[in-house]
Amino acid sequence: MMRLTDGHARNLAVGAWALSAALMLPAAAAAADAAKTPTFTRDIAPIFQEKCEACHRPDSIAPMSLMTYAEARPWARSIKARVGDRQMPPWQIDRTVGIQKFKNDRSLTDDQVEAIVRWVDAGAPQGDPKDMPAAKHWPDGQGWNFAALFGQKEPDLIIKSYDFTMPAVSQDVWDKRITPSGITEPRWVRAIEIRPETLKGRKITHHAIAYLEQTEPGVVAAPGLPAPFMEWAVGKQGEMMRPDTGKLLLPGSKFHWDIHYSQAGEEITNKVEMGIYFYPKGQEPKYRTALSLVPAALGTLDIRPNAVAVEEGFTTLREAARIESFQAHMHLRGKAMMLEAILPSGQKQVISLVSDFNFNWMTTYVYADDVAPLLPKGTILKVTAWHDNTSAKKSNPDPNQWVGWGDRTVDEMAHAWINIVYMKDDDFKIEQDKRRATEKTTLQQ
Ligand code: HEC
Repeated sequence: MMRLTDGHARNLAVGAWALSAALMLPAAAAAADAAKTPTFTRDIAPIFQEKCEACHRPDSIAPMSLMTYAEARPWARSIKARVGDRQMPPWQIDRTVGIQKFKNDRSLTDDQVEAIVRWVDAGAPQGDPKDMPAAKHWPDGQGWNFAALFGQKEPDLIIKSYDFTMPAVSQDVWDKRITPSGITEPRWVRAIEIRPETLKGRKITHHAIAYLEQTEPGVVAAPGLPAPFMEWAVGKQGEMMRPDTGKLLLPGSKFHWDIHYSQAGEEITNKVEMGIYFYPKGQEPKYRTALSLVPAALGTLDIRPNAVAVEEGFTTLREAARIESFQAHMHLRGKAMMLEAILPSGQKQVISLVSDFNFNWMTTYVYADDVAPLLPKGTILKVTAWHDNTSAKKSNPDPNQWVGWGDRTVDEMAHAWINIVYMKDDDFKIEQDKRRATEKTTLQQ
């Protein structure tokens, strides 16, 4: 089937070429066309190495490897579809509004999307094998990504989930057990990474979130909902705190796992490991990063059958703050979520819009150092959430049901997880001045 259709597409492309050639000087047109048509070896393989192989290689999460021409060619049609409507790589940030510079951006540029689409439209040609870039080296072992950076063999603390056996054929499963941190004194965290324990485990581990439960005064967290400490999904290296910021771990703390396993066609047993790197004892970062639940709605939701619902929530910042990252949290009917800042002056700014929410990809969007929003005391964070309870939403299990707020996947939620660094007004001014200085140098370049 696929081959037939692709062959057909190729004929069409040749037809179009013949037509344009007839209108131009033939030799010149042919030369221009050959230069323009993307080939796998010259134009596409470098993009796949950079943006796809993290997941699309043997022993990783995606269903097929895209490392060689022979592996990629049979998927050409599907690649065009998924890349063309920006479902792959998974990155749901709207590109037309809000901040566009992230530390963990895995999306394709417009030019890359265009090149891939044109490559498929041209019949997905291989090109000259000599153009093929050297294979990208992927670690085959299970090394820790940050250990060497800190001159260590291993993280300072390794927290493990429990053995979980995923059958060869199964619906998706979430492992939600709890592991105590075991620490006996407060420690400041400067980096965190999570990995499946085995290479095989990567095939079934879709994402893993470690939520932190600890009792302390003054930190915003909804009752009964521990705040995420670290979110991991395939392709993610880990999380490094911004310079001079850290998370604080307290004695008595516990980690609640939320590990999403998907079947891989064979039975696989896995657990997940979280490696935590501390600041040296006595070295306290200036700023504390706190994960806050910022709601569009909390505790109640009224989503009618066959309808799209919208909720808005307003949260006032009682201190000046820098917004480090944003993650939308909804369930199967989640459609979109927007984060805006309403400044004390009344001016409104869109910070981010997740316009194509996908329950399977709970991505934390981490703002780059020079654009992470600096917001004065009194700013209102506005979170708007849309739920699509119609059949247009592919992941909707039943558009004829009324849906309310709740924990189960078939219930709904509508909040954002936001990493916030609060600062005193003096520090805020210092950070603002630094930012203005960077902007100036950037403009002068
Ligand atoms: C973060 C991991 C990740 C990255 C990066 C990623 N993919 Fe995927 N991809 C997946 C997973 C997991 C699936 C299977 C689940 C699904 O369909 O969403 C998939 C599915 C696909 C499919 C559908 C296969 C089918 O069954 O028809 C295509 C096509 C695809 N990816 C292409 C790409 C391309 C091209 C890139 C790079 C430009 C890319 N992906 C980047 C994880 C990833």
